[in-house]
Amino acid sequence: MGVLFSAPQYEFQLIRQEWEQRFNELCAHGVFVGGAPVKEFEKHFASFLDVKGVAGVGNGTDALFLALKALEIGKGDEVITATNTFIATVEAIHHTGATPVLVDCERDSYLIDLDQVKANVTSRTKAIIPVHLYGQMVDIDEFVQWAADKGIFIVEDCAQAAGAHLNGKYAGSIGSIGCFSFYPDKNLGAIGDGGAISSNHPELLSGFRKLRNHGGELKYIHEFPGFNSRLDPLQALVLDLKLKYLNEWSERRRENAGIYSENLSNVEGVIVPKHRGDESHVFHLYVIRVEEDRRDALKKHLQKKGILTAIQYPTAVHQTPAFQHLGYGRGAFPVSEEYAQQILSLPMSIALSKADIEYVCDEIRSYMGTN
Ligand SMILES: Cc1ncc(COP(=O)(O)O)c(C=O)c1O
Repeated sequence: MGVLFSAPQYEFQLIRQEWEQRFNELCAHGVFVGGAPVKEFEKHFASFLDVKGVAGVGNGTDALFLALKALEIGKGDEVITATNTFIATVEAIHHTGATPVLVDCERDSYLIDLDQVKANVTSRTKAIIPVHLYGQMVDIDEFVQWAADKGIFIVEDCAQAAGAHLNGKYAGSIGSIGCFSFYPDKNLGAIGDGGAISSNHPELLSGFRKLRNHGGELKYIHEFPGFNSRLDPLQALVLDLKLKYLNEWSERRRENAGIYSENLSNVEGVIVPKHRGDESHVFHLYVIRVEEDRRDALKKHLQKKGILTAIQYPTAVHQTPAFQHLGYGRGAFPVSEEYAQQILSLPMSIALSKADIEYVCDEIRSYMGTN
């Protein structure tokens, strides 16, 4: 019995027929960049998130980078984010010329420690990027007001949290800008690269739309030097079809997480993720911690049994060669550094059956010696 880590191919099969029909229409029409599919998806996703607008881009990294550019962030500015994130969050800051200021995560939730964020604000802080990591939202409702009073923008990194909502608000509808990745294994995944931003601020949306399209919303009207990063219409078709299922699929992921937690919470040496138990978690990933240096051996054991797992992420950003120049040494962020040695992402997708999850749990239990 084999268990895949994620299953974008399974999701695609569910929409394939409809997608092919719309793909054929697109081919007959011949508009292969932009066009109606992108506009339709942007409109539907904005209405899903209950925001004024959504603008598609080539990928989630560009969404973050261009969001910061739309906020006119650059050299001399500081942007605060978590060190336990995918490197793209910090790359986006770096490429604007601003200085990334990193902070640790909270124990157990893995989410950015907002007290540390507050402690690191300086007169140069222009923005804060809370990362809704693993599918769980950082509770930023009050924090957004706190930051606004100081003139600091909040850019939500929603790459892993499409469909998560807290206090009646979706991830991506709370800060100044929300940034999404549609990488295929994301909760709302394309069949290639894709990304978008969401915002309630028309001037930011308009600035962003110019940035993604050579500095102008209209062809050959270039107001400033921009970039070329557009959401592909073939991807927009997939995303538009999948969006209808997003809430249902999030529920499936939460059910899967519940089965994992039920089966693993009493296994010695394994720590299951703590969360609010509500819809603010869409379980992009189900991440356990394995104590006593046994994580890598457990991973190998599971692989031998046909169970694919992953580590998100094996190195906190401040310890990667790419960002060692920031000068945070070993021990700067003890929680993230400790967790990087312990975390293990178990298979998570809507393709998993209860039997699949129980098989994974049985193998973990037997390896950890409590069977
Ligand atoms: C937290 C986070 N931010 C940003 C990104 C970047 O998205 P993309 O791969 O679409 O560029 C990812 C993608 O994995 C991510 O997980």
